[in-house]
Amino acid sequence: MAVLQIVLLFCVGSSIAEDLFSPNVNIITELEKLKNMEERIQKLENENEALKTLLQESQIKIEHFQKDNEVNKIAFSAGLMASGQGQTGPINSEEILVYKKVFSNIGNAYDSNTGIFTAPVKGVYYFRFYGHCHGGTTMAISLQKNGVTQCSVFAWKPTSNGNGSNGVVLTLEPGDKMYTKLWRNTWTYDDPASYTSFSGFLIFPL
Ligand SMILES: *[C@@H]1O[C@H](CO)[C@@H](O)[C@H](O)[C@H]1NC(C)=O
Repeated sequence: MAVLQIVLLFCVGSSIAEDLFSPNVNIITELEKLKNMEERIQKLENENEALKTLLQESQIKIEHFQKDNEVNKIAFSAGLMASGQGQTGPINSEEILVYKKVFSNIGNAYDSNTGIFTAPVKGVYYFRFYGHCHGGTTMAISLQKNGVTQCSVFAWKPTSNGNGSNGVVLTLEPGDKMYTKLWRNTWTYDDPASYTSFSGFLIFPL
């Protein structure tokens, strides 16, 4: 009887053992799969972090760009006389021309009370001016940066009307002042057609 029991116990035991070590439940394979998944999750988490950083950097760049774009909208254009017509000059000393007819003044860097443009930001700017005079008068106008002549126009007693224009691209620091000056003993003329004018704008900031 006891022998039979032992034999039976052996049979049951071996079938359990068979289940545990059955090829259907390969623990090593399962563990490997888990390890694999863990690695993939870690990789995804790393990629996610990298994407988050990239997104943050992009947002900062967009904010800077938007801010720059606001600050850097600088452009003006003005004609010499706001209304009527007439000569300006001659005078004994050089005189800053004050262009009164403001066509545009985005960024308010041009002052129509003084004729002076003050650079609000460091950047590359373009300035141009156009001068007109009547026959028989001499016209000389210079574009100045902080009082130093950059470029000029000159018409010496033309038989008919005289015209001249010039322009420069300049790198300016914040606070640099740009204006045009009429030379002493010369004339310029303007009327509602705005022959005599001054314009400038920021091409790009630095
Ligand atoms: C200067 O420009 C005015 C206006 O366009 C014109 O009437 C005049 O003939 C020009 N003068 C010369 C010398 O070309």
